[in-house]
Amino acid sequence: MKDLLKDPTLLRTQAYINGAWVDSDSGETFPVHNPATQEVIAEVASIGAAETRRAIEAAEVAQKPWAALSAMERSAVLRKWNDLILENVEDLAIIMTQEQGKVLAESRGEIVYAASFIEWFAEEGKRVYGDVFPLPQGSSRGIAIKQPVGVVAAVTPWNFPSAMLTRKCGPALAVGCAMVAKPAHETPLSMLALAELADRAGLPAGLLSVVPGAHAKPIGDEMCSNPIVRKFTFTGSTRIGKMLTAQCAETMKRVSMELGGNAPVIVFDDADPAKAAAGAAASKYRNSGQTCICANRILVQEGIYDEFVDELKKVVGGFKIGDGMDETSTHGPVITRKALEDIKSMVDDAVEQGAEIAAGGQFGEGGEQFIQPTILCNVTKDMRVFKEEIFGPVAPIFKFKTEEEAIAMANDTEFGLAAYLFTKDQGRTWRVSEGIEYGMVGVNETLISSTYIPFGGVKESGQGREGSSYGVDDYLEIKYICIGDLDS
Ligand code: SIN
Repeated sequence: MKDLLKDPTLLRTQAYINGAWVDSDSGETFPVHNPATQEVIAEVASIGAAETRRAIEAAEVAQKPWAALSAMERSAVLRKWNDLILENVEDLAIIMTQEQGKVLAESRGEIVYAASFIEWFAEEGKRVYGDVFPLPQGSSRGIAIKQPVGVVAAVTPWNFPSAMLTRKCGPALAVGCAMVAKPAHETPLSMLALAELADRAGLPAGLLSVVPGAHAKPIGDEMCSNPIVRKFTFTGSTRIGKMLTAQCAETMKRVSMELGGNAPVIVFDDADPAKAAAGAAASKYRNSGQTCICANRILVQEGIYDEFVDELKKVVGGFKIGDGMDETSTHGPVITRKALEDIKSMVDDAVEQGAEIAAGGQFGEGGEQFIQPTILCNVTKDMRVFKEEIFGPVAPIFKFKTEEEAIAMANDTEFGLAAYLFTKDQGRTWRVSEGIEYGMVGVNETLISSTYIPFGGVKESGQGREGSSYGVDDYLEIKYICIGDLDS
């Protein structure tokens, strides 16, 4: 891949621990595959528990002097990092497309999105305010100050290999924490390239270590059990998130969990069918259906159902599935062959129970890991596509009659991350937005993500919020100080 990059030194394959590029103690490496071609594009150091412990210990040493700097001084380093990321968008996007599969346009978008968290929190770190308050004894005053939680461990997913790091380490570093981060084994190169740029920006050694590994357990166990780690932040599946939360309870770590979703898109009769279909498609097929906030269940009121399906078919008809490096491709492959098989088994389950394939339905054509964007009609609540996160380019379209039924269907899941609705009725906008149990709601809009918003879910979609002015809270402790004897 080096020959594709303007700056080949961004392609790092060792771990980055305490400011140095290192191999694993065992010498073990693991292969990284291009999902479009299945080629091995790199061999990366496979880190274990001992190296992870050293990274955590280095973070503890680095964190205190970093926290002692002014927010302005920390901000200057983060701004430099942001600038370097933006100067290298093209190379970083190529690295991402090669290992993740998303098309170049989406990769470029993610790199800019990733940088925006660094820029945002470089400023937000300057606005960590406290409070002064009266106390029952008049001769005393209470003060609340906010301090960094300390050493943070992070585990991030393969679907957004850069932005999910910066959404976590942006606020952590800005307020004075240090971080040890583990990338997904499918996509370690994007995070390692960002670490290279952090190093060039002058981030002091130990403040951000990156520990890639083929085996998640020894790294995760060390992160969750080591008492130096005061906070653990994870983006990934609900199943793994629950296990990690339980492990962190042993040492009472703070946790932030950004977990699975089962997003409904509710389209009411009064919506514009073409706009609703374009919005639903933008959410459903983003990153080939591989985001936690992708439309998972499209719920359409009976009066508009057929028109909506026709409009969605038109949108999908304009897609071109192919290698993300080809600028004419609109959508890339899914991450692994196993992912393709899992998605296919959900479609098979639906079809066996009477669903109709209204578009797509081809798996593995034109490339082992390619799925044609698929639309399923005649679907019911008993099918797996209603209950499970599909995480692929398959859109099941359910029918409903009334607003109450739509709200009940939307809430009929253990997940509560993002939901969307299309309506022109203001009263309905409020009733439904308040009636559905989700952390984020898009009304007549499905592209809701940005640095400005508090991203996060309720129920089994997790806890904590990332991004926005709230995004620093998860990395801060409140300390109460009582100043007494003020009469004397
Ligand atoms: C995710 O899938 O977890 C992140 C999506 C986003 O930030 O928009």
